[in-house]
Parts: sequence; structure tokens; C-alpha cells
Amino acid sequence: MVHFHKLTVKHIKPLTPSSVAITFTIPKDLIQTFDFVPGQYITIKMELKGKEIRRAYSICSSPKSDCFTIGVKKVDKGGFSDYAHTKLKAGDVLEVMPPEGRFTFQPTGKVKNIAAFAAGSGITPIMSIAKSVLADNPKSKFVLVYGNKSQKETMFYTDLAKLELDYAGRFNTYFINSQTQEDESLFGRIDVSTVNYALKNKHKDVGFDGYYLCGPEAMIHLVSDTLKENDVPKDKIHFELFTTTEILDEMPAQPEGKTQVSIVVDDEEFSLTMDKKEIVLDAVLKQNIDAPYSCQGGVCSSCIARVTEGKAEMVKNQILTDGEIAEGLILTCQAHPTTPTLKIDYDDV
Ligand code: FES
Repeated sequence: MVHFHKLTVKHIKPLTPSSVAITFTIPKDLIQTFDFVPGQYITIKMELKGKEIRRAYSICSSPKSDCFTIGVKKVDKGGFSDYAHTKLKAGDVLEVMPPEGRFTFQPTGKVKNIAAFAAGSGITPIMSIAKSVLADNPKSKFVLVYGNKSQKETMFYTDLAKLELDYAGRFNTYFINSQTQEDESLFGRIDVSTVNYALKNKHKDVGFDGYYLCGPEAMIHLVSDTLKENDVPKDKIHFELFTTTEILDEMPAQPEGKTQVSIVVDDEEFSLTMDKKEIVLDAVLKQNIDAPYSCQGGVCSSCIARVTEGKAEMVKNQILTDGEIAEGLILTCQAHPTTPTLKIDYDDV
């Protein structure tokens, strides 16, 4: 299940002073494996300073090509994004897990009008979704509200301007800068008034079929709440967190005692004993079991498993629906066992 493949970096293009676009070549025999739905992400694995790290990055290019591109913003000194800015070069080979993720737009060929709200590097999956929506049907429209500190720090600024020209009348971007006042941009942050300005003022006659939100948790909550107040049904709102808030003060009381855990992954069964207060994925990785994971922060969906016996409680969940939780799915990077025995299956999800 957790299969990384070696992909060669085709080229690296600077986007802003702190972000780059990395394009990978896909060998012919892996084209199907790396086929993706707009909005999905890949995970890169590498060893830095003797420690394995994994980082998830959304694909910003359109599907159906022999290469794909991700946008990487420099955030972690000494981590992969730093490496990508200072050392990575064309021709280097990286270990990459095939695309996954649920924040997707499935092209159907039908007219779809989509509104998107992105902040910072949250634009990356939106780029892929926007290009697909616009190419999928010549009558589809796409409205984007995109927040950044400044125009200089705006990823894909020129690509978005080109999309506006290529799809005149069908693609509109509203740039919002929080630190600089610039022509062609609104000043401030994405808030209730900007959501209403774009949807109820500028595009009040458009019936939107879906809303895609990507960025920090606070922005997602704000936009989502505003949409719901405007009677947008919950199932039309899709979101992907790019950063999340600390939740330590929300954590339930930590249970005491030990749990006997059995784990199925890639048709193999493993067992271990762990503290109830420990996180399942941490305990699994300590045993060198090759379970799937990426962000380890509850913001992707790589680590989902099904509880087939016993119970586990998540300290945080922004991904699984109530129905999925009821049928036994958990984010193993957020769950700790609450029963003396626990069986989880990574293959049955
Ligand atoms: S590893 Fe990303 S949600 Fe668990």
C-alpha cells in the first residue's frame, strides 16, 4: 500500500522569494500510478540529517500529462521546503508516493460554476481544480478569492493573470493583501465582507455548484460559516487544511493503562502493546511497521485505518465525516486506544 517511487525532478521554477514550483517527470510505466484527480496531493519521503521525513504537497498542474508540478513554500528551516529552495536541482531523484486525498474536483464534462477561497500556499490544489473546471466545459465559471501578505508573496500571480486572459469572462480572481496596498488588490484579509463582496455583489447572478476552501484553519472556518449563513448546503463546501491550530487544551482526559493492538497493513498482520495515552500511528511507526502516513498532523488523509475490534478516540478530526467515524474509520495519527484490545486495518478503507 505504501509504495514510494523514484521520480526525477524535471525543473524547478521560482514562484516568489519563498516558494518554488517543482516539476517531476513520470516514467511511462508509472503514468497510470501517478494519474490524479485535480485537488490531490503527493507525499515526498527523504532522509535529512539522519532522520526520515515525509511532506505532503498538492499538485498544481492539470492531470493527463507525462509530468506533474507541485508548489512548495519555504516554511521549515532544515526541512524539505528549505532543501527544495537551497539544494534541490533538476535531475535529482526523489521518493514520491502516488497521489491521494479527498479534496477533489471530478470532471464530468457538465457545466460547473465553482467559487474558491485560498490563502498562501493553499492556492496549489486550487490551481489544478481551476484549470480542470475551465477546460472541462466551455460554459463553466470559476471565481477565486486569494489572500496573501503582498503581491510579491503571491504564488502563481502571473499564471492566474494568464488564466484570466485565456478564460475571459469565465475566470475571475480577487487578490487580497494583508500587508501592502496595491493596485488590482483588495487590502485586508479574507473575511465575511470579502466573501459576500465576491459572491453576493460581483457574482450574485451565478449559481455556484461547489465551494473549495484551502488554507489555514481559521480562514476555512470563517468562510465556511459565512457560506452556511448564506444557506449554502454543507455538502457543497469542500475544504483542505494547510495549517491547523494547536488543540492540546481540547484533548480529552488521557486514559490510563495499556492496549494490545493488532494491525493489518499490506495483507500482513502485526501486533504490539502500547500505552492508551500514546497515539496509534506513533506506536506503529516505533515498531518499524510500514503504515501509510504523511502530515502526522491530522490535515491530510494518508493514515486512515478501520477499527475492526475495540475502540480508539481521535483528539482531532477535520477530515472524516460522522458517517465514516460511525463505520469505524480513524485517523491513526490522531487516535489513541480506549479499550484493552484494538484491531485496525489499513487495507480496508
Ligand atoms: S498523517 Fe495526515 S492525517 Fe494522519
